[in-house]
Amino acid sequence: MFTRKSSNTVQEVNIWSEPGIYYDSLTRTFRLRCKNSIYAFRVDDSRNLEHLYWGSSIPLEDDLLFLGFGNNPTPFDPKGYIGDVRESLNPLGFADLKQLDSDEVAEKWKTYTVEAHSPQATEPRRLENASWRIWNMDKMRKSGSLSNVDADKMIVEEDSPSKSRVLHVVHEPCSDEACTHGKYLTESWEMMSGSEKEEEEEEERKEGRGKRPSGYSLPSRSGSSKRSPSIRIGEGLERNLSSLDNLQDEFQSCSRFGSFASPTPRQQQQNVWINLDPEIVGKNTKLLEYSDRGTGDYRSCSFELEYSDGTTLSPLVYSSHRIYVGKLSPPFPLPGLFVNSDSDASTLELTMKDPLTKVEVVLYYTVFHEYDVVVRRTLFRNTLDESLIIRRCYSCTQDFDTDDFYLTQLSGSWARERQIVTKKLCQGISLVESTRGASSHQHNPFGVITIGEPAEDRGEAFALSLVYSGNFRLEAELVESGRLRVNMGINPQQFSWNLGPGEEFSTPEVVLCYSDQGLGGISQQYHRLYRYHLMPPMWRNKICPVLINTWEAMYFNVTHEAVVELAKKAKECGIELVVLDDGWFGNRNNTRSGLGDWKANRMKFPFGLEGLCREINELGLRFGIWIEPEMVNIESELYTKHPDWCLHIPRRARTTGRNQLVLDFSQQAVRDHVIEQVSSILSSCNIEYVKWDMNRHLTEVFSQAFPPERQGEIAHRHILGVYEAFARISSCFPHVLIESCSGGGGRYDPGMLYYSAQIWCSDNTDALSRVQIQYGTSLVYPVCSMGSHVSSIPNHQTLRSTTMKTRTLVAMCGTFGYEMDVRQLTREEVEEIKSYVELRNEYAPLILFGTMYRLWNPFSSDSGAWMFVNDEKTEALVIAVNLNRSIGLQLPRMHLKGIQEDWVYLVEELCPGKLRTNVSTGAIETDPRGVFQWSTKMGGVTLKLSGRTLMRVGVPVKFIFEGDSLLFSVRAVSLLV
Ligand code: GLA
Repeated sequence: MFTRKSSNTVQEVNIWSEPGIYYDSLTRTFRLRCKNSIYAFRVDDSRNLEHLYWGSSIPLEDDLLFLGFGNNPTPFDPKGYIGDVRESLNPLGFADLKQLDSDEVAEKWKTYTVEAHSPQATEPRRLENASWRIWNMDKMRKSGSLSNVDADKMIVEEDSPSKSRVLHVVHEPCSDEACTHGKYLTESWEMMSGSEKEEEEEEERKEGRGKRPSGYSLPSRSGSSKRSPSIRIGEGLERNLSSLDNLQDEFQSCSRFGSFASPTPRQQQQNVWINLDPEIVGKNTKLLEYSDRGTGDYRSCSFELEYSDGTTLSPLVYSSHRIYVGKLSPPFPLPGLFVNSDSDASTLELTMKDPLTKVEVVLYYTVFHEYDVVVRRTLFRNTLDESLIIRRCYSCTQDFDTDDFYLTQLSGSWARERQIVTKKLCQGISLVESTRGASSHQHNPFGVITIGEPAEDRGEAFALSLVYSGNFRLEAELVESGRLRVNMGINPQQFSWNLGPGEEFSTPEVVLCYSDQGLGGISQQYHRLYRYHLMPPMWRNKICPVLINTWEAMYFNVTHEAVVELAKKAKECGIELVVLDDGWFGNRNNTRSGLGDWKANRMKFPFGLEGLCREINELGLRFGIWIEPEMVNIESELYTKHPDWCLHIPRRARTTGRNQLVLDFSQQAVRDHVIEQVSSILSSCNIEYVKWDMNRHLTEVFSQAFPPERQGEIAHRHILGVYEAFARISSCFPHVLIESCSGGGGRYDPGMLYYSAQIWCSDNTDALSRVQIQYGTSLVYPVCSMGSHVSSIPNHQTLRSTTMKTRTLVAMCGTFGYEMDVRQLTREEVEEIKSYVELRNEYAPLILFGTMYRLWNPFSSDSGAWMFVNDEKTEALVIAVNLNRSIGLQLPRMHLKGIQEDWVYLVEELCPGKLRTNVSTGAIETDPRGVFQWSTKMGGVTLKLSGRTLMRVGVPVKFIFEGDSLLFSVRAVSLLV
């Protein structure tokens, strides 16, 4: 969409059709243009960051200042202030005035006073006011009654690395002549690739054109300026908006021709900071981007610092910003989203400052161009020459204007993880949080705000997902005005960070996602975003091998012979990888001993892991192991040698969980030891998969390696240590596929996903429980990350029995594997599993990498259903499982999603059932030809229907018994004629 400007002509460009970050210096508004949505905020007259808008796309030309009219202060709200802050920071508007001596200012004041009498003279009136105040201040300063204040500079930088597509902003000086002739100069906008730019420069060199002339004239202003009616703002103050209209005209003409960030000629001449806020209101009234505590905002604050004098105030004001293409990673080892090429994203780095202490808080915003996603994080920089304490530091604050808010969260317990819970918000604070040292089974670092009750395919949804595996908090505070504040980040409970002089602290990233197509729209974006920009890239397109895990087959009774026997039978079933779970190391025969001693138990494995791995490889199978490196049993060699290496408080009892203690991963020595041990196992033989477990939460969070004032840092340092261990091990063994796990799905979060491509969903392998667990998990996490196995019946967690078909279909919607003693299988059962493994392999690319559409919600109906559609929309697979059958009740028709309306599809039922009840007698009958969804006397029927009918009318379906399931393949065959 970009047209280059030559020196004499200007062609109209529409820079805003491109996703990216735009700054309008006149209204001081930042617009973060995502694929189909916009996120906007501005520097208000008090230099706070006022949040303006987050939602579906609107014309970028629209000035969002009108939103300020929604700020209705109550009589009890502390008012905002502008004078002190602006003068002490030398904002744009007063730089020229400040350089003058008091006599000259007095002259200026008179001029402005005269100008201020014109009917449309908002600006002169403000300048009159300002010059009067500056004149007075100058007089006071001269008389010694006011000490000099350092002037801060307002820096606006636009960086653009030379590689890949960039948005260049060339700063060029404004010539006097051009200014007086009303030309718009100073910046030109171009969109070209780095190589294109080089080519153009080369061309210019050849032609001897040299540097482009400074400035390009733009066509005269166009567009009608409609007069706005006079409106009343505040008591007795009437402001005619026509003067604002004038500003908007200038702004719009600037923006229309691509000089969005250029000051108008008038601004250039006068370097004017124009007061634009409809009314100065206090912080409590406004929507803010990042909020301090104690200066008027009574909502839950974004951060809190404590200085050595005991004070905790840190009001922040805008100081500078940079916009660049690409994205910076958070500091190692914090996980974060990455770009595959700079053109994937644009980043805004905005520095705010405490005017008194000069401490800096940098807000990072990255727009992912192909998504409706903004990634935020915050960095604290201590510019003092003494330490300060960070008491609270959320990654983001999201303020919303009044609406009908609902919060949807993923909560549950061990073996019942990530259940979808929705509540209507009412005045007060709702928390979704963990203080367990891990993201936890109980709550997931995720939440979605919807306007009205959440729906799957419609309605606005605003989601937050934190890239962090430790203590987190999402707090949603609905305040008296009906407005909503959502904060998310590290849990401030039990947290503090001692920030030394010159040091920086970065929060984890939070991934904000918007959709006007309900929860489905949110999930589809997260799935793709996390697959391409979060998970280890090595695994993003790999179909994970079908594995068998020894846990439910043998528990601690693993031996060389038993595992080899299991492997042989697994091979017959078509399984490709054998995973040796718990019990293979140290003196590990139960949960009481062995953790920490990562050497094979020679009683059970006389040939070591090497011998076992060799034999399994010789069978043509791959080999993997289970480890739990963050833990230690008291009965272990490690604990005997290093009793101080676990988290504990000297002289106090050490709380065990599952008979184990947590190693203190905040200590480098502890990490080094564990990493060394794990590395030596992984290099001892051909291990291609690791299940990395973590089976208890943290207690006595205290480290021997840190002084008392740093103990509030340990939970965070611990998880950073865990990340470092993941990073070091996976960089030494990049070919090893890591599946992370925590007593099932107790650490299923984006932080873990960054380091491990798969995560074990839950210790509950019951197919019907899994329908809900996996459905809930799919709200955020891609199907290809969900560890899911077929287990034996009765199920070990619920004692429930379900058919092999149902267990297989549910496990197929994830990484897929087996967790059963296949040694016990009959020949027929082996054959049955073999055919299911073939089915899974055939459909794995569609399931793992297709787009997921959820059809029936198992939390609000008796059945769960979803489907996967390939990118071309030519193929789809539908899976549904009944959880609770109400006899006599007909099911609703199943409406498919995501296919083409005007294509014709064949819908074929795969794996029909075997059982039915005789309607006359009630007896159970088996039908060797299969029990089909749609059948005639001749047998099963394949439907041939348009996408439109399949989606709008839906297909009739039935379940014969509780726990029954169905599988349809959908294939496009022709265009609708
Ligand atoms: C956790 C895991 C299980 C299994 C056991 C082994 O509970 O979630 O899958 O690995 O540990 O102790």
